[in-house]
Amino acid sequence: MFIISFIVSTFCYPFTNLLNIFKEFFKGMAWYEIPNTTTFSICFTLAFGVAVIIFVLCLWVKATCGMFTSSVRMDGKTVLITGANSGIGKETARDLAKRGARVIMACRTMDTAYEARDEIIKQTGNENILVKKLDLSSQKSVRDFADEILMIEKRIDVLIHNAGYGNPFNKEKSVDGIELTMATNHYGPFLLTHLLIGLLKKSTPCRIVIVSSGWYWLARFNLKKYLNELDGQPVYLYYVSKIANIMFAIELAKRLQGTGITVNSLHPGVIYSGIWRNVPFPMTIGLTFLNYCFFKTVVEGAQTTIMLACSEELNGVTGKYFSDCKECELQPYVTISEDHKRLWDVSIKIVKLTDTDPKIL
Ligand SMILES: NC(=O)c1ccc[n+]([C@@H]2O[C@H](COP(=O)([O-])OP(=O)(O)OC[C@H]3O[C@@H](n4cnc5c(N)ncnc54)[C@H](OP(=O)(O)O)[C@@H]3O)[C@@H](O)[C@H]2O)c1
Repeated sequence: MFIISFIVSTFCYPFTNLLNIFKEFFKGMAWYEIPNTTTFSICFTLAFGVAVIIFVLCLWVKATCGMFTSSVRMDGKTVLITGANSGIGKETARDLAKRGARVIMACRTMDTAYEARDEIIKQTGNENILVKKLDLSSQKSVRDFADEILMIEKRIDVLIHNAGYGNPFNKEKSVDGIELTMATNHYGPFLLTHLLIGLLKKSTPCRIVIVSSGWYWLARFNLKKYLNELDGQPVYLYYVSKIANIMFAIELAKRLQGTGITVNSLHPGVIYSGIWRNVPFPMTIGLTFLNYCFFKTVVEGAQTTIMLACSEELNGVTGKYFSDCKECELQPYVTISEDHKRLWDVSIKIVKLTDTDPKIL
């Protein structure tokens, strides 16, 4: 407290003139009874100090937010992005379309998907944008989607697992009876990757990008308890699913070593996007404040994904985790290879991989 007061007072010292101007201003108001000088000074100093700290933090967030400035082109490449109808996914689709890629937008909500596609075509002039139906929480939908892609596409150069779901207050089950957050954020992408692996192998060199979250550290992975059960706080299950994303990325990278397919995961930053849609009022008031001060825009939030999808400097880089367009260290408890293997084995059972489905060994 002493240190904070000291910093605040030091910050505010040069502004004592401003303080006097304010005091004069209030004195002139008949309805306002000015408190004694000490109370007024302390309140003013604290309020001003807090404002300065918020302002400095805002600047820090903006200054450390990595931007991918390369003008690398993606002509002739096909990129599949899940959840591309809104938020970071839509922004990623827009950017990659601008770079000339053929973009497959794999979306659950078709009306916003078509709107997003039309907007992207209009803005980029790239007409090579497709919308396909995919509900990652439904294993049938994932299989139908994969069948269609295998039928119509000759190659996939980049597969971006971007779609994500979180509900901090309600627990739900998917149509397959699996906890919905894990079904959408981990099991759906796990199954889809398996079903498309043959096509990805034919398209090498190619990349798999998995959008996780830096908030994974809020969860300690407990395979027994959380893999397919509804006990545990719903918000916690989101963090568990994001740890699963990172573990899946590392294990997949290991299994695909030498095939020409690279796999990396990332934290996009904190962005005021649709992911917060299940946060109820009045908590949204706090969120709006945080958004204005500290959150990234969706354009900023998409930068690390875009970099992982197309940066030439990342050719051959695999099994890494990125944030703000930089490689980052992971907490040691996420990098235990036995856990990755256990998660893999449990996932195979939960997505019901059949004998005829492709395997990633
Ligand atoms: N925003 C953040 O602060 C933040 C922080 C860390 C990580 N992330 C991650 O970033 C990724 C993108 O999120 P965002 O911030 O852009 O949020 P968003 O705007 O809500 O986008 C999420 C996308 O996922 C789609 N989706 C949800 N459930 C799906 C399902 N069952 N099948 C197919 N698609 C589904 C949504 O489609 P609908 O429109 O149909 O719902 C939407 O297009 C997520 O993986 C999220 O976990 C976000």
